Amino acid sequence: MLGDGAVAVAHPNIALVKYWGKRDERLILPCTDSLSMTLDIFPTTTHVQLTDQNTQDAVLTDGAVARGEMARRITAFLDVIRERAGRTERAMVETRNTVPLGAGLASSASGFAALALAATDAYGLSLEPVALSRLARRGSGSAARSIFGGFVLWHSGASDDPDPDLASYAEPLAHAHLDLALVAVLVETGPKPVSSREAMRRTAMTSPLFPDWLATTRGDVTAMREALAREDIATVGEIAERNALGLHRTMETAVPPVRYLTPTSHRVLEGVRDMRARGLPAWATMDAGPNVKVLCGGGDAQRVAGELRKQSGCAAVVARSGPGAVLRKKVR
Ligand code: PMV
Repeated sequence: MLGDGAVAVAHPNIALVKYWGKRDERLILPCTDSLSMTLDIFPTTTHVQLTDQNTQDAVLTDGAVARGEMARRITAFLDVIRERAGRTERAMVETRNTVPLGAGLASSASGFAALALAATDAYGLSLEPVALSRLARRGSGSAARSIFGGFVLWHSGASDDPDPDLASYAEPLAHAHLDLALVAVLVETGPKPVSSREAMRRTAMTSPLFPDWLATTRGDVTAMREALAREDIATVGEIAERNALGLHRTMETAVPPVRYLTPTSHRVLEGVRDMRARGLPAWATMDAGPNVKVLCGGGDAQRVAGELRKQSGCAAVVARSGPGAVLRKKVR
């Protein structure tokens, strides 16, 4: 028989100061704080329906049965929720994305945020948003930030905290109101060759630049918070671009190296530098994939997107600040 169910929607977020490196793989505790903007594009909608007839969870992603690593991660995540709820039913999970998966467009952030909200509701756990962000973190680190809309800070928590799980959560930066737009340039939308999880592990273990990366990122979080508070878009853009380039340097110096950026990504980066030289303020950020996201003022977004399309030949989608995860429907 079918049991309780729920539907939730969450949006991806793009980090202005990145999370890259875990100090605990099981609890997904990051080495540093990170700071992001939740977007208003590419939402994920997830329906979780409990059933006492199946012996395994059944997961459909965009109509296809999820297998392998993704299916294993979702079941492990549902196990955490079942244990907390003291329940044993299996779940049928159906997820619809509007973004290509595994291409560094933050689909795991929106995916695990929507799943955290829908599954906790279906299993009868009612968590307030900060607690939900701690839980979403266990699915995919960056998902902790997609629980909230706007600018969001994810606290790493002190490593000597008696309860490190409790200490690592996301919260919205209530006083940050900068009119920032993000133009996502879709360089490639196929799945990436190396998962971000593997790339992160390899970088932390082998890149000689990793310790410096952590120290720089800690300073970048503080400077970014200050720049957001004074609505200083140039400093926000400069820190974000520098931080993303630093992230990619750590990957490229890992053994073996992880190279996500393609010749087209580099051409887009060149185009962004060129726009700046011509007096059009724009800055780039990149995650674990070849796609380039370009930050600019809200009023410049359409012009920046138009120039990027012309210059790269790629599709470019304009995003603004978006909402946190919401519950759409309860099924009882
Ligand atoms: O949440 P994960 O494990 O997919 O890691 C995401 C890491 C980056 O996107 C590269 C950076 C970030 O802070 O989102």
